[in-house]
Amino acid sequence: MKITVVGAGAVGATTADNIIRRELAEEVVLLDIKEGVSEGKALDMYQTAALLGFNTKPVGSTNDYEKTKGSDVVVITSGLPRKPGMTREELIGINAGIVKSVTDNILKYSPKAIVVVVSNPMDTMTYLALKDSGIPKKRLIGMGGALDSARFKTYLALEMEVSPNDIHGMVIGGHGDTTMIPLTRLATYNGIPVSRFLSAEKLEKVAADTMVGGATLTKLIGTSAWYAPGAATAMIVESIVRNQKRIVPCSVYLNGEYGQKDICMGVPVVIGRTGWEKIISLRLSDAEKAAFEKSAEAVRNMNAALNL
Ligand code: NAI
Repeated sequence: MKITVVGAGAVGATTADNIIRRELAEEVVLLDIKEGVSEGKALDMYQTAALLGFNTKPVGSTNDYEKTKGSDVVVITSGLPRKPGMTREELIGINAGIVKSVTDNILKYSPKAIVVVVSNPMDTMTYLALKDSGIPKKRLIGMGGALDSARFKTYLALEMEVSPNDIHGMVIGGHGDTTMIPLTRLATYNGIPVSRFLSAEKLEKVAADTMVGGATLTKLIGTSAWYAPGAATAMIVESIVRNQKRIVPCSVYLNGEYGQKDICMGVPVVIGRTGWEKIISLRLSDAEKAAFEKSAEAVRNMNAALNL
């Protein structure tokens, strides 16, 4: 098994670190355009093998795609992150150019790879990668809902003063501050609806905190987050590599599912060795359906800026 992570910045390096610690592949290639950065970070990571005892080898590459040849899974994190006060959507111009060229190069050397897109605005970048490359839709996965769901579960756990491990919940829709939909109605504490433990007011606050979860961190840190984004991406990679069939909300190409066509948006999918295997159809309430439609409209407007 060989995995490539494009972009050796905060999210890419954290993703690679999570992947090697879990020994998800024999080799992990970290590629970046900045001279020496990926080689340096890969070597730094490899020096943790002697301390932590894993056997995966990280390899750095300054924009040499030959080194990525034959990758089974490729994660794309290259692109600008947002600064305080910016929306993910404002990154579209620069990141579209980067994601397009990276996808072309990647598929030239690894035509059978499953591609996980992280760069923002993620739903639009996933759509762009699909339209530009013609990659089979089930081999293209946008990472957003995995992270937003982790944030949702954490805010619920903090409010309830319990472990996030005991909380189950999902965030679907677009991966934007105003487009994501935390499914409060379906969240549980070990199978028991969280509405048994928290008032409607508190649940609303949790949903609102989740939606601006990324912006809150950007404001605190000064740039966008990386620990949870890296862990969420590695979780998806693990479900692919180990064929775990985990249900994860991911941005995938919809062709009528959830009432939407020709768009990539977050819906629950089963993730296994061949990519996303099927879409899980949830029975949404009228309010949730309306929120999904509104979210789709916003994602569609963003896609229009690509001028495809
Ligand atoms: P960063 O600035 O730390 O790293 C980005 C890296 O991409 C840099 O090292 C840069 O040199 C590299 N890069 C730029 N153009 C490249 C190219 N053509 N080829 C290869 N490498 C290239 O940024 P960070 O924090 O790692 O974020 C990366 C992206 O992920 C951003 O667009 C950010 O908004 C997004 N993101 C998405 C999340 C999600 O849930 N989908 C969560 C967090 C971040």
